[in-house]
Parts: sequence; structure tokens; C-alpha cells
Amino acid sequence: MCGISAYIGNNNAVDFLIQGLSKLEYRGYDSAGITILNHENQFVTTKKQGKLVNLMEALKESKQVGYMGIGHTRWATHGVPCDENSHPHCNKNNTISLVHNGIIENYSILKEELIKDGYEFLSMTDSEVIVHLLDKYDNGNMLETINHVIPKLEGSYALCIMVASDKDCMYVVKKDSPIVLACDANASYVASDIPAILDYSKNVYFMDDYQIARVEKGKITFYDLEQNIIIKEPTFIAYDNQTAQMDGYESFMLKEIYEQPFALQETLRGRIVENKIFFKELKDLDKKVKEFQRVYIVGCGTAYHAGLSIVDIMEKDLQIPVSCTVASEFRYNDPIINQHTLAIFISQSGETADTLAALKLAKSKGATTLSIVNVLSSSIARTSDYTTYTCANLEIAVASTKAYTTQIATLLLLSKYMYQEKTNQLIDNQLLTELQEIPTILKTVIKDSDIFKNYAKKVIQYHYAFFLGRGLDFPTAMEGALKLKEISYIHASSYIAGELKHGSIALIEKTSPVIALALQPNIIKKTISNIQETIARGGDVILITTKPNKVEGTYATYYLPEVHPSLMPIVAAIPMQFIAYHASKLKGYDVDKPRNLAKSVTVE
Ligand code: F6R
Repeated sequence: MCGISAYIGNNNAVDFLIQGLSKLEYRGYDSAGITILNHENQFVTTKKQGKLVNLMEALKESKQVGYMGIGHTRWATHGVPCDENSHPHCNKNNTISLVHNGIIENYSILKEELIKDGYEFLSMTDSEVIVHLLDKYDNGNMLETINHVIPKLEGSYALCIMVASDKDCMYVVKKDSPIVLACDANASYVASDIPAILDYSKNVYFMDDYQIARVEKGKITFYDLEQNIIIKEPTFIAYDNQTAQMDGYESFMLKEIYEQPFALQETLRGRIVENKIFFKELKDLDKKVKEFQRVYIVGCGTAYHAGLSIVDIMEKDLQIPVSCTVASEFRYNDPIINQHTLAIFISQSGETADTLAALKLAKSKGATTLSIVNVLSSSIARTSDYTTYTCANLEIAVASTKAYTTQIATLLLLSKYMYQEKTNQLIDNQLLTELQEIPTILKTVIKDSDIFKNYAKKVIQYHYAFFLGRGLDFPTAMEGALKLKEISYIHASSYIAGELKHGSIALIEKTSPVIALALQPNIIKKTISNIQETIARGGDVILITTKPNKVEGTYATYYLPEVHPSLMPIVAAIPMQFIAYHASKLKGYDVDKPRNLAKSVTVE
């Protein structure tokens, strides 16, 4: 994870660095720091534990000025969040300073060797070994030195390096971690992600692994590891930075929950015309559909839950095996892939390291790869054979809400689209009509926020909560549990309601909070029996169902509007999101930036 921003140009570097880091804080907010080459040609490093605002306060006092600088916002991997472990890291003589995004997997071996050589470590990070290695092998030509050091590093990295002896340039090198660059007549800019640069330049360079960039004011030269110059064309970014405003909401998460009807409306826009589904951006996928013999769906966290909601539907639509796996497992499971495999990757950020690695693996084994991504031009979007975007717009809160519901809608459309192209049959009209009504239906559920707040008041009295569901309700239960855990720090587990009696029901005590979903008509009676078993053990069940289902002895019952069963995961996401949101608020936590988390997980 972590975010990098760097600048060399006519203006004070601090201004670009701070605006860049503020756009990258979603990548980590354990600490932030910058190094500036000041007017006396010295590196001045300021770093502070905690959110970026702490660094900004420190800089207000010290008033740093310099034309070149590097900055970093950290999500801790090696070493606790503290000032010492924050980036940038400098060598002993303060002549080399660097920021790192990624993980150096062989750092402990390298560190041992460096300690034997007499190097002293000031931090517990893996990143600090790189600065000492650069110092150790420095031969006065940093390009050569980087070339020498890079093969020694195992793992992932995007590095931005400044050297005091080379004060008119900085160096960037990457492997498996994203970095983008841009320049104009007055300056050059480097960042982990496009938004940090976009207000300054719309022509952006993407680097491939093992490439090095020498970044001067207004000029960037790219090299391969043999020091041959590589000619690169910039990519024009056709969108503007959307300003992240809370628009009167008390948090981004709340705003994003409320934005779901609009996000879904935008995601559906133009897709359905007279009972037919269109995915124009998927070029010739329609011709390939008949050739697929199996489908893998891959994602992490919430994106994985969205994938789970479509497995059974897609399997029936395509009449071929469909499975959904978390990316960190998929990439090491040696999945059976050939040219008849379709591999679908779901990601809000488009930068999740495990999902990107899984995508590269599937591609290398000959699968057709398709990604469902929210962030335009992100790594996953650029790497896939086919990409379609959810139109959730900027999602700022760490807990995903509108990305999730738009991912489910997109997956459903995609499944029905592939069915349509494979069979030449028309799609169930009732489903398509109701899908288009979903934005309006969500508005009615969102209005009940206060009801869900009352449920949250019950939940926060405990250190644990149960989420139950069967069939398509189970991924919703998983998502409900994840939301509650990540922002209210209450341990929550999701169970397949029918499995409870095989062991986990032993956990149910008098008044235990149980959120039970009974929304799938084909199995509702069975689910209700499982819920009754829970009530019989004293559990306080908050039942989420549709009318006129009734269960005696619940703590509370909430009726969702009845929609097509395939659409229920979208509608039922709202109570899950609100229960977690209110629980977090009632406990006084920062809903948007929960502890230990970052919005985009760019490390393994
Ligand atoms: C939870 C959440 C995470 C992400 C996961 C994948 O609310 O947001 O579980 O869903 O880290 O992220 P993306 O979708 O960016 O690949």
C-alpha cells in the first residue's frame, strides 16, 4: 500500500507533495513524511505518525521550501506506525533519501548483511534496507547503482529516490507496485495514482516493471535495466479529478450509502434497450462466449462478496462451471486455466495487488480476462483483455458501499448479456424491469436509516454478532459481517443458516445479536426453521425478510420491498451498511478511516 508523491520544478515542492499525499491518503494513513532539497542543497526530512494533518501541522511551523522533494503516506507493513518507521528513509550521511511502496520480502537477509557491513538501522521497516544498499553500492552514478541494487530486491516496489550529488533529478523504479509520472515545461510530477497528478497534467506516463525513470524538471527519461533509453508516449487521461466533498453529510460513508440509487442508475444507463443488454465496450466478447468452458470470478473482501452473489446465476445462465475465489488464494492455487477459460476480476480501486497478480496469472495461462473496475485507467483496467466500469464514481470511505452494489448489478447484467449472446434467447423481462426500478427501491430502504440505527444500538452492546443467510443471502450475510467488523471493531461472523446446527449454534447465548436474512423464496421455509432454532437458544434475532413472512419471538423484523430474488443482494446491502455505519458512529469511531485499514491494498 502506501502513497508516493514527488516533484521537481519551479515552485515549492511542498505544495505539490501535500496536495498529492492528500489525494493518496486512501492508500494509508498510519504516518506521512516528506524530504525536501532545500536552498542550501541539504535534505530536510519531516515525518509524523498519524494522519496527514499531523505532518501538515509540523510543516506549518518549519516552513520548508525547496524545488525538489519526495513524499509518502504509509500503511504499515513492517514496523508499527511511528515517526521512525515513517518514510522517507535516508542514509547515514543524509545524501540519499527514498520513499517506497510495496514489500521487500528478503529484507531480513539483506538487513543482516548490511548490519555486518556496519550499517545502523533507525527503523523496523523493510524499506530502510534499500537506502543502505544504494549507499553501499553508490559509485557516483545513481542509474548504475540502482541497476546494481534492483536484482537484489525480492518483492514489490515503487521507489522514488533523491541523491544529494544529483540535485537536478530524482529516480523512479518499479516492480508490481503502481507509479505514474507527468511533466510540463515547469516541472515533473510523480505519484502512486493519477488523481495526485491530474490537476497538474493530463498526459501521464505509466511505467512497466523493471524500468527506471530519470526525472528532471520538465523532462523524464526512461531506461531499461541495461540502461538503454526507452521511448514512451504519455497516455491522455480524459477525465477530471472529482472533488471529494462531503456535501453536508457527516461522513463519506454516509454520503456514499445515499449515493447508491444514483450510482446504480448510472451503472445501468444505456445497458438495457428493449429487453436486450448491451456492453459495447466488450468488443468481440459476444463471439467468444460459446467457447468458454469455465468461469473464474476473483476479487478481495467486498468485491469477492459481490462475485459470490453471481456464481449460481451465471452457472445457470451459461451452463458451465462458475466459481468465485479470493484473489490471494487463486494466485497460489494453480487454477486449471486454458484458452477456454473466462476469468473475471472485480475491483473498486483497480489496484489491489492480489487481484492484479491473479489477473496476470490468468492471462499468462491463456484465459480471456475481463475486469469490472470502478477507477478509470487503473492497473487492473489496463491489464485486462476486456474492461467494464461500474459507475459508482469516487468512493472515499474505506468501507465499500456503492462500489459493492454497482458491482453486483454489473455482474448480473454481464451474466444475462453472456446468456443472451450464447443462446440468442431473450432475457426474463420481469428481471430487467425490476433491475431498472432498483434505484427507486433503494431510496425507500435508505429512508429507514433510523430503524437500522435502533438495531445498531442493540448490536453495540456485545463484542460479537452473528449474520445468517442461505443461498444468495449468504454473500449478503458475509458482507454484513465484514462491514460491521471493519468499522465498529465488533467481531462478526457469517454463517450459512443451515450449517449452524453442525457446530456453531453452540455459540448462541441468551440475547446474542443475530442478524438473519430470509429473502430467497425457494428456501425461505428452511431459513425460517434455522432462525427458529436460534431463537430457541435465546438469540435475539433481527430478521430481514419480505412480507408476509413472520417468525415468532424475533427481537425485531424489518421488511424489505420484495424484488426478483437475484436482485435481493443489492437491496439487502442497505440494512447491512447502515447497521455497521450506525454501530461505528454510536461507538464514536472514525467511520471513513477505520484503524489498521486503507482504501486500496497494493501489497500482498
Ligand atoms: C471492505 C472493502 C475491502 C475491499 C477490498 C478489495 O469494505 O472495501 O474489502 O473490497 O480490499 O478492494 P478493491 O475492490 O479496490 O479491489
